[in-house]
Amino acid sequence: MAKLLNLPETITWKAGELFLLDQTQLPLHVTIEKQETVEQVWDSIRKLKVRGAPAIGIAGAYGLVLSMQNYTHLSYTDFFDRLQHQANYLDSARPTAVNLSWALNRLVKKAEALAHSNESVNESVNVPELYAQLEAEAVQIHDEDRQLCRRIGEHGQGLIQANMGVLTHCNAGSLATSELGTALAPLYLAHQAGTPFRVYADETRPLLQGARLTSWELQQAGVDVTVICDNMAAHLMSEGLIDLVIVGTDRVAANGDVANKIGTLGVAILAQYFNIPFYVACPYSTIDFKTLTGSTIVIEERGGEEVTHFGLRRTAPEQIKYRNPAFDVTPHALVTGLITERGIINQPNTENLRSFYEAE
Ligand code: MRU
Repeated sequence: MAKLLNLPETITWKAGELFLLDQTQLPLHVTIEKQETVEQVWDSIRKLKVRGAPAIGIAGAYGLVLSMQNYTHLSYTDFFDRLQHQANYLDSARPTAVNLSWALNRLVKKAEALAHSNESVNESVNVPELYAQLEAEAVQIHDEDRQLCRRIGEHGQGLIQANMGVLTHCNAGSLATSELGTALAPLYLAHQAGTPFRVYADETRPLLQGARLTSWELQQAGVDVTVICDNMAAHLMSEGLIDLVIVGTDRVAANGDVANKIGTLGVAILAQYFNIPFYVACPYSTIDFKTLTGSTIVIEERGGEEVTHFGLRRTAPEQIKYRNPAFDVTPHALVTGLITERGIINQPNTENLRSFYEAE
């Protein structure tokens, strides 16, 4: 599929080597870092060098491939013990985005299905053959994501009307996926189609994904974007500058509750107060039918320095108590619709989600 945006690749797999764009360096430096080991991939996910739900799924899948690269001959048991062990290890890097476990699981299941179809499974596995299949599956997850994002964009594009102000939170764009992003995909396609509109990017305290990443990638693509501090959103809404909110998500529960970057819940409550449509964009791999409601989604708690410091500078007293939940859960009642690759699911609740996916 031809590239639409002239942005650096978030994740590159080339001749058995994995390269990640180090997002912690943006927007000041575009640094591509080769990943030598599975431990390095774990660390890159944990430290948010690669971040955003679909991107950590793709990076995790390649990390798992990397971890099985140097074996030549293994018994069936050893192969699958190692594969599962490394999948569990990578999955432990970040708990909230379901895309990570989804992608790792998909690779493990693929290898299992292939091994079971082989007569000699009880003795040993053909490691190079299984490795090639794992690699192909990871590449396919990556390619599929490009197509899914494009389709999310096509389904969401109609929501962007001329001269609208659109608010987004965190970064659910190119940097968080393979190319167009989820929340930003409708914006990129509307921009390409010549629709004029303005985007307001919440800076997204504490790690500033909105200020550092969303504003950077939209600016690179020539989209009219304004950065605001998170606490300015209500004021802009009261001024009538925001007509639509679109955000991404790390996990949608079976009842339509949505986990996304901390601060999203506040935006959703504001949007309801000001009667502004609040949409969430995601591919099917982010919908977790095994998690019945948002209250059981594990919310990642991160270290205190992200809260007590601004960049490297301390802004809170020494030894102060802190909390740093990286995500929050927006109840489905506040969500106008889910923009998916198969269409928009209005009022996403248990019944609407189930019937939408069962109808396929
Ligand atoms: O902590 P991050 O930067 O990984 O958080 C990312 C988000 O919250 C995104 O909105 C979400 O993963 C969707 S990305 C398409």
